[in-house]
Amino acid sequence: MGYEFILSEVDGAVGLVTLNRPKVLNALSPALMAEVTDALGHMERDEAVRAVVITGGSRVFAAGADIADMAERSSVDQLLRDQTGRWAGVTSLTKPLLAAVNGYALGGGCELALMCDLIIAGDTARFGQPEINLGIIAGAGGTQRWPRTAGKYLAMEVNLLGGQLTAQRAYQLGLVNRVVPAEVTIEVARRLARTIAGKPPLAARMIKESVNQSLETPLQQGLAVERRNFYFLFATEDQKEGMRAFLEKRRGTFRGR
Ligand code: COA
Repeated sequence: MGYEFILSEVDGAVGLVTLNRPKVLNALSPALMAEVTDALGHMERDEAVRAVVITGGSRVFAAGADIADMAERSSVDQLLRDQTGRWAGVTSLTKPLLAAVNGYALGGGCELALMCDLIIAGDTARFGQPEINLGIIAGAGGTQRWPRTAGKYLAMEVNLLGGQLTAQRAYQLGLVNRVVPAEVTIEVARRLARTIAGKPPLAARMIKESVNQSLETPLQQGLAVERRNFYFLFATEDQKEGMRAFLEKRRGTFRGR
């Protein structure tokens, strides 16, 4: 697929989307994000793809929304083009999405990472919401996902002070799943994605839906969603295969049916 601002490839069951505007530290222009959501849409529809990695490459994840694109915009421009609302194409992916983050993940870059299901950070990764320094606030989840991930006080600190957290600090806060040497971040993320891709995809989808529901609903309602998804999986071939394979002491093969 030919894109201008990203690279998109599929290797076996794993999709890889690479942000590719290195001269501006992968600034997330509307055109770039449209390509990201388009590529993710193709991967959503491609049954062969079972997990996706998104990265900015070896040096930087993304230094935020494109300031040059936004500087002279009016509120009405922003409202009508719904700049960050259009990023919903990232969270609507039903397949596991892993962020492989090296270097800066700032502003929208950090919010894009927070939209993912796992975050693998290189030891060079830096997370932050510096929007306050520009006279604005986070607009793609930075004031909402930080408190749900790391609590109110850290969310206030990150958004009010506009500073940066190291990969190690992000790991201590539970924001990041692994911290690895920057040279292997993408490979580690791809390896984890391959591991997930070898598991029953319908179960993976139900896990993603159920965990995400837990952030949206009271406990009893979330438990009802989980139970419904649990019962539903007994209608799948993969459940029969998984349980029979266990009893027959062999490895299961999962078709996503
Ligand atoms: N939007 C548009 N362009 C950006 C950008 C962004 N968010 N972040 C960086 N760039 C551009 C710079 O303007 C510069 O372009 P130039 O070479 O034409 O001057 C280029 O990327 C390199 O950035 P530079 O600032 O020179 O690199 P640095 O290593 O000195 O600093 C950062 C790196 C990330 C600390 C700094 O670029 C920065 O603060 N970026 C903005 C972060 C931000 O506020 N994000 C939230 C946006 S809502």
